[in-house]
This record gives sequence, structure tokens and C-alpha cells, in this order.
Amino acid sequence: MNSKTDVVICLGSSCFARGNKNTIKVIAEYTKENNLQDKVHFHGGHCFGECARGPILKVGDTIYYGVDDIKALEILREKFEG
Ligand code: FES
Repeated sequence: MNSKTDVVICLGSSCFARGNKNTIKVIAEYTKENNLQDKVHFHGGHCFGECARGPILKVGDTIYYGVDDIKALEILREKFEG
């Protein structure tokens, strides 16, 4: 059984330029430091068509808007440590 949670970061040009470039690193480090590789499938996604509300991060079935690196960590902590 694969019970990994999909964590998708928008790699569309708008989100990427507005912070996701850095957030990628922060999330990758977080999953590594917390040994979450077995629980998290972290990967990039195409533009979600919601650029104005970006940067966008999707965790499981939930899309989060206006996510910077700090907010991304809060979301992941709540999901995987909470
Ligand atoms: S670039 Fe992220 S929603 Fe368009």
C-alpha cells in the first residue's frame, strides 16, 4: 500500500518567480530532516490556472494560496506533526 501524501508545488512561471523557487528548497530540506520521504511524495506541478492567488502549494486534496516558505512549513508541520 502506498500511503504517501502528494505535496505538489506549482512550478508555473508566476508562482516560481514569486517564491516557489525558494519554497522548493525549504520543503525538500524539511522532508529530509524529518525523515518524511516515506510519507511525502513531493513534486512539481504545472500552472494551476490561479496565478493571481499564488504562489500555490497543494497538499493531499487541499490547495493553499499565497504560500511563502514560512506558511509552507506551518502547513507541513500541522499535517505531519500535528
Ligand atoms: S503559475 Fe502557479 S498557478 Fe499559475
